[in-house]
Amino acid sequence: GRVAVALGGNSAEREVSLDSGRNVLEALRSLGVDAHPVDGIPALLDALRAGHFARVFNILHGRGGEDGMLQGALQALGVPFTGSGVLGSALTMDKVRTKQVWIAKGLPTPRFQAYRKGEDIAAAIAQLGYPVIVKPSHEGSSVGITRVYGAADLPAAIELAMRYDGELVLEQLIEGDEFTVGILDGEALPSIHIVPRGEFYDYHAKYVAEDTQYICPGLQGAAEHDMRQLARQAFDAAGASGWGRVDVMRDKAGRNWLLEVNTTPGMTSHSLVPKAARAVGIEFPQLCWRILETSLG
Ligand code: DAL
Ligand code: MG
Repeated sequence: GRVAVALGGNSAEREVSLDSGRNVLEALRSLGVDAHPVDGIPALLDALRAGHFARVFNILHGRGGEDGMLQGALQALGVPFTGSGVLGSALTMDKVRTKQVWIAKGLPTPRFQAYRKGEDIAAAIAQLGYPVIVKPSHEGSSVGITRVYGAADLPAAIELAMRYDGELVLEQLIEGDEFTVGILDGEALPSIHIVPRGEFYDYHAKYVAEDTQYICPGLQGAAEHDMRQLARQAFDAAGASGWGRVDVMRDKAGRNWLLEVNTTPGMTSHSLVPKAARAVGIEFPQLCWRILETSLG
């Protein structure tokens, strides 16, 4: 049947999603799939109720598309879709509660404090010390994130993050190397070690710069095995399924720290899951096909 490629939407990651979606659409069509773009959830639901599509390839990033809302609607309509269900999508879009689940499972994640407007910021920081990373709890693509090395820079960081979210994560900054592990069919792909030119892997380094280096596999032997295993455990613990990507920091002592799970990772030409898949011989169209297959269950 016809496949709707759900893209765009109105989250802060709209442009990334349009880019991802165009790539997915082209790939599926190259395989002979009757795929069509649909921009945003209202248009998608209208098209589904009119019976235009048999399944959905969801490549909406961020709120609305990646947070359980769409997943609930699709489940109610009985339309199969790619990626995680309601629980995994909703939980992993919330960094605070994802970390609480990992901690309850004994999985390593940097120390943190949740912060809402009006709360005592001094008390939160006193628990953590500097440096910290200030993040909106419910955003992706590094939107609204600042590294803070001292009290002087804290107010601007809080204000920026608050533009995106009423709840923030103040997280202990792990000094070390940034890794990510793609998950396909519930299995971990080779890790990628991300080596940005600038200070860290921000929105610019993710989607614009051409000088970020990606090393895949990022580690060797037991270290690589442990990284992949941790990513899979983190993905499963968060209730995610199908495909996704787990971001991990590795500190200077070689300890791994879980940062977040993305249930609808980017599929742009700069994106990481396609790179990891290619490292094991899965080219982009085949990757899209494998992801589409996860909607069959
Ligand atoms: N949130 C972006 C799209 C990613 O995880 O790739
Ligand atoms: Mg993310």
